[in-house]
Amino acid sequence: MRIGILTGGGDCPGLNAVIRSAVRACEVTYDSTVIGFRNAWAGVMDNDYEVLDVDRCRGILPLGGTILGTSRDQPFAHPDGLHKVRKAYDRHGLDAIIAVGGDGSMGVVKDLHENDFPVVGVPKTIDNDISLTEMTFGFQTAVQICTDAIDRLHTTAESHHRVLVVEVMGRHVGHIAIWSGIAGGAAMTIVPEEPFDIQELCERITRRHGQGRYATIVVVAEGALPKTGTFTMPEPEIDQYGHQVLGGIGSIIAREIQGRTGIECRMTALGHIQRGGSPVAFDRVLATRFGVAAVEAALDSAWGQMVALQYGEIVRVPIADAIGRLKVVEGDLLRINTMFRPRIPGDHHPGQRPEDVED
Ligand code: F6P
Repeated sequence: MRIGILTGGGDCPGLNAVIRSAVRACEVTYDSTVIGFRNAWAGVMDNDYEVLDVDRCRGILPLGGTILGTSRDQPFAHPDGLHKVRKAYDRHGLDAIIAVGGDGSMGVVKDLHENDFPVVGVPKTIDNDISLTEMTFGFQTAVQICTDAIDRLHTTAESHHRVLVVEVMGRHVGHIAIWSGIAGGAAMTIVPEEPFDIQELCERITRRHGQGRYATIVVVAEGALPKTGTFTMPEPEIDQYGHQVLGGIGSIIAREIQGRTGIECRMTALGHIQRGGSPVAFDRVLATRFGVAAVEAALDSAWGQMVALQYGEIVRVPIADAIGRLKVVEGDLLRINTMFRPRIPGDHHPGQRPEDVED
Protein backbone atom coordinates (compact mmCIF):
# COMPACT_ATOMS: atom_id res chain seq x y z
CA MET A 1 0.00 0.00 0.00
CA ARG A 2 1.04 3.63 -0.46
CA ILE A 3 -0.19 5.78 2.39
CA GLY A 4 -0.04 9.57 2.76
CA ILE A 5 0.18 11.08 6.22
CA LEU A 6 -0.26 14.67 7.44
CA THR A 7 -0.58 16.55 10.71
CA GLY A 8 -3.14 19.41 10.87
CA GLY A 9 -4.38 22.06 13.30
CA GLY A 10 -2.45 23.19 16.38
CA ASP A 11 0.62 21.06 17.10
CA CYS A 12 0.72 18.78 20.09
CA PRO A 13 3.30 16.59 21.85
CA GLY A 14 3.08 13.08 20.39
CA LEU A 15 2.58 13.95 16.71
CA ASN A 16 6.05 12.68 15.84
CA ALA A 17 5.37 9.48 17.78
CA VAL A 18 2.33 8.84 15.55
CA ILE A 19 4.32 9.51 12.38
CA ARG A 20 7.14 7.21 13.51
CA SER A 21 4.75 4.48 14.52
CA ALA A 22 2.82 4.59 11.23
CA VAL A 23 6.08 4.52 9.28
CA ARG A 24 7.48 1.59 11.26
CA ALA A 25 4.24 -0.37 10.94
CA CYS A 26 4.20 0.23 7.18
CA GLU A 27 7.87 -0.48 6.48
CA VAL A 28 8.64 -3.25 8.96
CA THR A 29 5.35 -5.13 9.14
CA TYR A 30 3.09 -4.32 6.22
CA ASP A 31 5.50 -3.78 3.32
CA SER A 32 3.98 -0.38 2.62
CA THR A 33 5.30 3.10 1.81
CA VAL A 34 4.53 6.38 3.58
CA ILE A 35 4.48 9.80 1.93
CA GLY A 36 4.54 12.65 4.46
CA PHE A 37 2.80 15.84 3.35
CA ARG A 38 4.15 19.07 4.80
CA ASN A 39 1.93 21.58 6.57
CA ALA A 40 -1.21 19.47 6.46
CA TRP A 41 -3.56 19.77 3.46
CA ALA A 42 -1.48 22.68 2.11
CA GLY A 43 1.25 20.14 1.32
CA VAL A 44 -1.22 17.79 -0.37
CA MET A 45 -2.54 20.61 -2.55
CA ASP A 46 0.92 22.09 -3.31
CA ASN A 47 2.69 18.74 -3.69
CA ASP A 48 5.06 19.52 -0.82
CA TYR A 49 6.08 16.13 0.56
CA GLU A 50 8.84 13.75 1.56
CA VAL A 51 9.00 9.97 1.50
CA LEU A 52 9.24 8.79 5.11
CA ASP A 53 11.16 5.73 6.20
CA VAL A 54 12.40 4.24 9.45
CA ASP A 55 15.77 6.03 9.09
CA ARG A 56 14.13 9.44 8.67
CA CYS A 57 12.02 8.79 11.78
CA ARG A 58 14.91 7.72 14.00
CA GLY A 59 15.07 9.79 17.19
CA ILE A 60 11.74 11.59 16.73
CA LEU A 61 9.73 9.60 19.33
CA PRO A 62 10.51 12.02 22.20
CA LEU A 63 10.49 15.12 20.01
CA GLY A 64 7.74 17.75 20.43
CA GLY A 65 6.04 19.44 17.48
CA THR A 66 5.80 17.69 14.13
CA ILE A 67 8.56 17.01 11.62
CA LEU A 68 5.95 17.51 8.88
CA GLY A 69 4.83 20.96 10.03
CA THR A 70 1.19 21.88 10.36
CA SER A 71 -1.39 24.43 9.25
CA ARG A 72 -5.12 25.07 9.47
CA ASP A 73 -5.47 25.27 5.68
CA GLN A 74 -7.87 22.76 4.15
CA PRO A 75 -9.13 21.75 0.68
CA PHE A 76 -12.72 22.93 1.13
CA ALA A 77 -11.46 26.50 1.61
CA HIS A 78 -10.27 26.55 -2.02
CA PRO A 79 -12.44 26.33 -5.18
CA ASP A 80 -10.00 23.82 -6.73
CA GLY A 81 -9.04 22.16 -3.43
CA LEU A 82 -10.74 18.81 -4.06
CA HIS A 83 -9.29 18.65 -7.56
CA LYS A 84 -5.79 19.19 -6.13
CA VAL A 85 -6.29 16.49 -3.51
CA ARG A 86 -7.47 14.06 -6.21
CA LYS A 87 -4.35 14.93 -8.22
CA ALA A 88 -2.16 14.17 -5.19
CA TYR A 89 -3.73 10.69 -4.83
CA ASP A 90 -3.13 10.01 -8.53
CA ARG A 91 0.38 11.48 -8.70
CA HIS A 92 1.65 9.44 -5.72
CA GLY A 93 -0.50 6.36 -6.38
CA LEU A 94 -1.96 6.73 -2.89
CA ASP A 95 -4.30 4.09 -1.50
CA ALA A 96 -5.10 6.18 1.58
CA ILE A 97 -4.36 9.34 3.54
CA ILE A 98 -4.06 9.28 7.32
CA ALA A 99 -4.92 12.72 8.72
CA VAL A 100 -3.84 13.45 12.28
CA GLY A 101 -5.73 16.41 13.70
CA GLY A 102 -8.34 17.95 15.97
CA ASP A 103 -12.06 18.48 15.59
CA GLY A 104 -11.61 20.76 12.54
CA SER A 105 -9.27 18.32 10.78
CA MET A 106 -11.62 15.41 11.54
CA GLY A 107 -14.41 17.45 9.91
CA VAL A 108 -12.30 17.67 6.74
CA VAL A 109 -11.70 13.89 6.85
CA LYS A 110 -15.45 13.30 7.14
CA ASP A 111 -16.19 15.59 4.18
CA LEU A 112 -13.46 13.97 2.07
CA HIS A 113 -14.85 10.55 2.93
CA GLU A 114 -18.28 11.70 1.77
CA ASN A 115 -16.59 12.70 -1.49
CA ASP A 116 -15.25 9.13 -1.86
CA PHE A 117 -11.65 9.76 -0.83
CA PRO A 118 -10.02 6.89 1.08
CA VAL A 119 -9.18 8.60 4.39
CA VAL A 120 -8.65 7.63 8.01
CA GLY A 121 -8.44 9.97 11.04
CA VAL A 122 -6.24 10.08 14.12
CA PRO A 123 -7.56 12.43 16.86
CA LYS A 124 -5.12 14.91 18.33
CA THR A 125 -5.51 17.83 20.72
CA ILE A 126 -4.05 18.88 24.02
CA ASP A 127 -7.57 20.05 24.95
CA ASN A 128 -8.81 16.41 25.07
CA ASP A 129 -12.22 17.53 23.81
CA ILE A 130 -12.83 15.06 20.97
CA SER A 131 -15.83 12.80 21.54
CA LEU A 132 -15.74 9.00 21.48
CA THR A 133 -12.12 8.80 22.59
CA GLU A 134 -11.34 8.83 26.30
CA MET A 135 -8.03 10.55 25.75
CA THR A 136 -6.07 12.29 23.03
CA PHE A 137 -2.28 12.26 23.12
CA GLY A 138 -0.70 15.56 24.14
CA PHE A 139 -3.26 16.08 26.89
CA GLN A 140 -1.30 14.33 29.64
CA THR A 141 1.84 16.25 28.68
CA ALA A 142 -0.03 19.55 28.88
CA VAL A 143 -1.48 18.59 32.28
CA GLN A 144 2.00 17.72 33.57
CA ILE A 145 3.44 21.04 32.36
CA CYS A 146 0.61 22.95 34.06
CA THR A 147 0.93 20.93 37.26
CA ASP A 148 4.68 21.61 37.43
CA ALA A 149 3.98 25.32 36.92
CA ILE A 150 1.31 25.38 39.65
CA ASP A 151 3.68 23.61 42.06
CA ARG A 152 6.18 26.42 41.50
CA LEU A 153 3.57 29.14 41.76
CA HIS A 154 2.49 27.89 45.21
CA THR A 155 5.79 28.84 46.82
CA THR A 156 5.93 32.35 45.43
CA ALA A 157 2.22 32.94 46.13
CA GLU A 158 2.72 31.81 49.73
CA SER A 159 5.82 33.94 50.26
CA HIS A 160 3.99 37.09 49.11
CA HIS A 161 0.55 36.18 50.50
CA ARG A 162 -0.91 36.74 47.06
CA VAL A 163 -3.61 35.36 44.85
CA LEU A 164 -2.10 33.82 41.72
CA VAL A 165 -4.31 33.26 38.70
CA VAL A 166 -2.97 30.64 36.27
CA GLU A 167 -4.47 30.68 32.78
CA VAL A 168 -4.25 27.38 30.92
CA MET A 169 -5.44 26.25 27.48
CA GLY A 170 -8.92 24.86 26.94
CA ARG A 171 -10.80 26.55 24.13
CA HIS A 172 -14.25 25.11 24.81
CA VAL A 173 -13.67 22.67 27.65
CA GLY A 174 -11.81 22.58 30.95
CA HIS A 175 -10.08 19.18 30.97
CA ILE A 176 -6.56 20.67 31.26
CA ALA A 177 -7.75 23.16 33.90
CA ILE A 178 -9.56 20.58 36.05
CA TRP A 179 -6.83 17.95 35.87
CA SER A 180 -4.00 20.39 36.61
CA GLY A 181 -6.10 22.25 39.18
CA ILE A 182 -6.71 19.03 41.09
CA ALA A 183 -3.14 17.74 40.62
CA GLY A 184 -1.65 21.10 41.65
CA GLY A 185 -3.97 21.65 44.62
CA ALA A 186 -5.49 24.88 43.30
CA ALA A 187 -8.05 26.47 45.62
CA MET A 188 -10.39 27.09 42.69
CA THR A 189 -10.60 26.09 39.04
CA ILE A 190 -12.77 27.89 36.53
CA VAL A 191 -13.87 26.01 33.43
CA PRO A 192 -16.02 26.85 30.38
CA GLU A 193 -18.52 24.16 31.42
CA GLU A 194 -19.56 26.26 34.45
CA PRO A 195 -19.76 30.04 33.85
CA PHE A 196 -18.33 31.85 36.86
CA ASP A 197 -19.64 34.65 39.06
CA ILE A 198 -16.76 37.03 39.78
CA GLN A 199 -18.35 38.42 42.93
CA GLU A 200 -18.81 34.93 44.37
CA LEU A 201 -15.22 34.03 43.44
CA CYS A 202 -13.99 37.11 45.30
CA GLU A 203 -16.10 36.27 48.35
CA ARG A 204 -14.51 32.83 48.49
CA ILE A 205 -11.02 34.34 48.28
CA THR A 206 -11.75 36.99 50.91
CA ARG A 207 -13.13 34.39 53.30
CA ARG A 208 -10.20 32.03 52.71
CA HIS A 209 -7.65 34.77 53.41
CA GLY A 210 -9.70 35.95 56.43
CA GLN A 211 -9.40 32.45 57.85
CA GLY A 212 -5.63 32.66 57.88
CA ARG A 213 -4.87 31.16 54.48
CA TYR A 214 -2.59 33.73 52.95
CA ALA A 215 -2.23 32.49 49.42
CA THR A 216 -4.64 31.28 46.77
CA ILE A 217 -4.10 29.63 43.40
CA VAL A 218 -6.94 30.04 40.90
CA VAL A 219 -6.68 28.04 37.67
CA VAL A 220 -8.72 29.33 34.76
CA ALA A 221 -9.27 27.77 31.33
CA GLU A 222 -8.76 30.29 28.52
CA GLY A 223 -12.31 29.63 27.26
CA ALA A 224 -13.99 30.34 30.63
CA LEU A 225 -16.91 32.76 30.53
CA PRO A 226 -18.66 34.85 33.17
CA LYS A 227 -22.26 34.14 34.07
CA THR A 228 -24.59 36.16 31.87
CA GLY A 229 -25.05 39.69 33.13
CA THR A 230 -22.14 39.62 35.61
CA PHE A 231 -19.62 41.55 33.49
CA THR A 232 -18.87 42.20 29.83
CA MET A 233 -15.97 40.49 28.09
CA PRO A 234 -13.97 42.25 25.36
CA GLU A 235 -14.60 41.07 21.76
CA PRO A 236 -12.12 38.29 20.89
CA GLU A 237 -9.66 38.62 18.03
CA ILE A 238 -10.31 36.31 15.02
CA ASP A 239 -7.45 34.71 13.04
CA GLN A 240 -7.32 34.19 9.25
CA TYR A 241 -9.18 30.86 9.54
CA GLY A 242 -12.06 32.37 11.50
CA HIS A 243 -10.63 30.85 14.70
CA GLN A 244 -10.99 32.93 17.90
CA VAL A 245 -7.63 33.89 19.38
CA LEU A 246 -8.21 33.22 23.07
CA GLY A 247 -6.14 34.18 26.07
CA GLY A 248 -6.71 37.15 28.30
CA ILE A 249 -9.38 35.91 30.69
CA GLY A 250 -6.70 35.35 33.35
CA SER A 251 -5.71 39.03 33.33
CA ILE A 252 -9.34 40.13 33.51
CA ILE A 253 -10.04 37.87 36.48
CA ALA A 254 -6.82 38.90 38.26
CA ARG A 255 -7.66 42.59 37.87
CA GLU A 256 -11.17 42.04 39.22
CA ILE A 257 -9.93 40.01 42.19
CA GLN A 258 -7.41 42.65 43.22
CA GLY A 259 -9.93 45.46 42.72
CA ARG A 260 -12.77 43.77 44.59
CA THR A 261 -10.87 42.09 47.45
CA GLY A 262 -7.92 44.43 47.93
CA ILE A 263 -5.66 41.35 48.03
CA GLU A 264 -2.59 41.53 45.82
CA CYS A 265 -3.06 39.36 42.75
CA ARG A 266 -0.79 38.26 39.88
CA MET A 267 -1.48 36.34 36.70
CA THR A 268 0.55 33.76 34.78
CA ALA A 269 -0.60 32.58 31.34
CA LEU A 270 1.05 29.30 30.39
CA GLY A 271 0.08 29.63 26.71
CA HIS A 272 1.98 27.65 24.12
CA ILE A 273 4.47 26.30 26.68
CA GLN A 274 1.73 23.69 27.21
CA ARG A 275 2.02 22.51 23.62
CA GLY A 276 5.81 22.49 23.37
CA GLY A 277 8.49 19.97 24.17
CA SER A 278 8.70 16.27 24.72
CA PRO A 279 5.56 14.13 25.27
CA VAL A 280 5.21 12.24 28.57
CA ALA A 281 5.32 8.43 28.42
CA PHE A 282 1.52 8.04 28.35
CA ASP A 283 1.24 10.25 25.27
CA ARG A 284 4.10 8.46 23.49
CA VAL A 285 2.40 5.13 24.05
CA LEU A 286 -1.06 6.33 23.02
CA ALA A 287 0.35 8.05 19.92
CA THR A 288 2.24 4.87 18.99
CA ARG A 289 -0.91 2.78 19.38
CA PHE A 290 -2.90 5.26 17.28
CA GLY A 291 -0.26 5.23 14.52
CA VAL A 292 -0.34 1.44 14.16
CA ALA A 293 -4.15 1.36 14.41
CA ALA A 294 -4.51 3.99 11.67
CA VAL A 295 -2.32 1.99 9.29
CA GLU A 296 -4.32 -1.15 10.06
CA ALA A 297 -7.58 0.77 9.48
CA ALA A 298 -6.26 1.81 6.06
CA LEU A 299 -5.24 -1.78 5.26
CA ASP A 300 -8.82 -2.82 6.15
CA SER A 301 -10.28 0.00 3.98
CA ALA A 302 -12.04 1.40 7.06
CA TRP A 303 -12.60 4.74 5.34
CA GLY A 304 -14.14 7.60 7.26
CA GLN A 305 -13.16 5.98 10.56
CA MET A 306 -11.20 7.54 13.41
CA VAL A 307 -9.05 5.53 15.79
CA ALA A 308 -9.98 6.04 19.44
CA LEU A 309 -9.28 4.92 23.00
CA GLN A 310 -12.22 3.30 24.78
CA TYR A 311 -11.96 1.32 28.02
CA GLY A 312 -8.22 1.07 27.50
CA GLU A 313 -8.55 -0.54 24.05
CA ILE A 314 -7.93 1.00 20.64
CA VAL A 315 -11.10 0.97 18.55
CA ARG A 316 -12.44 2.54 15.35
CA VAL A 317 -15.41 4.91 15.35
CA PRO A 318 -17.13 6.69 12.44
CA ILE A 319 -15.70 10.20 12.30
CA ALA A 320 -19.17 11.54 11.59
CA ASP A 321 -20.21 10.37 15.08
CA ALA A 322 -17.18 11.88 16.81
CA ILE A 323 -17.21 15.42 15.48
CA GLY A 324 -19.51 18.34 16.11
CA ARG A 325 -20.07 17.55 19.79
CA LEU A 326 -17.35 18.20 22.27
CA LYS A 327 -16.36 15.94 25.10
CA VAL A 328 -16.89 18.19 28.13
CA VAL A 329 -15.76 17.87 31.73
CA GLU A 330 -18.47 16.20 33.78
CA GLY A 331 -19.10 13.71 36.59
CA ASP A 332 -16.86 13.39 39.62
CA LEU A 333 -14.20 15.81 38.34
CA LEU A 334 -16.70 18.68 38.30
CA ARG A 335 -18.08 17.57 41.67
CA ILE A 336 -14.63 17.49 43.29
CA ASN A 337 -13.94 20.93 41.88
CA THR A 338 -17.04 22.27 43.65
CA MET A 339 -16.41 20.33 46.86
CA PHE A 340 -12.82 21.51 47.32
CA ARG A 341 -13.24 25.26 46.75
CA PRO A 342 -13.20 27.63 49.74
CA ARG A 343 -16.63 27.74 51.32
CA ILE A 344 -18.92 30.70 51.78
CA PRO A 345 -22.18 30.84 53.74
CA GLY A 346 -25.04 29.11 51.93
CA ASP A 347 -22.83 26.55 50.15
CA HIS A 348 -24.35 23.16 49.89
CA HIS A 349 -22.17 20.35 48.63
CA PRO A 350 -23.36 17.06 47.26
CA GLY A 351 -23.52 14.60 50.15
CA GLN A 352 -23.48 17.36 52.79
CA ARG A 353 -26.18 17.18 55.48
CA PRO A 354 -28.59 20.15 55.24
CA GLU A 355 -28.06 20.93 58.96
CA ASP A 356 -24.35 21.45 58.28
CA VAL A 357 -24.88 24.19 55.66
CA GLU A 358 -23.39 27.41 57.05
CA ASP A 359 -25.48 30.56 57.07
O1 F6P B 1 -7.01 23.47 20.21
C1 F6P B 1 -5.82 23.38 20.88
C2 F6P B 1 -5.36 24.73 21.31
O2 F6P B 1 -4.14 24.55 21.95
C3 F6P B 1 -6.37 25.50 22.19
O3 F6P B 1 -6.33 25.13 23.52
C4 F6P B 1 -5.93 26.91 21.95
O4 F6P B 1 -6.99 27.81 22.16
C5 F6P B 1 -5.54 26.90 20.52
O5 F6P B 1 -5.11 25.61 20.21
C6 F6P B 1 -4.47 27.93 20.21
O6 F6P B 1 -4.28 27.96 18.85
P1 F6P B 1 -3.09 28.78 18.15
O7 F6P B 1 -1.85 27.98 18.31
O8 F6P B 1 -3.51 28.89 16.73
O9 F6P B 1 -2.99 30.09 18.85
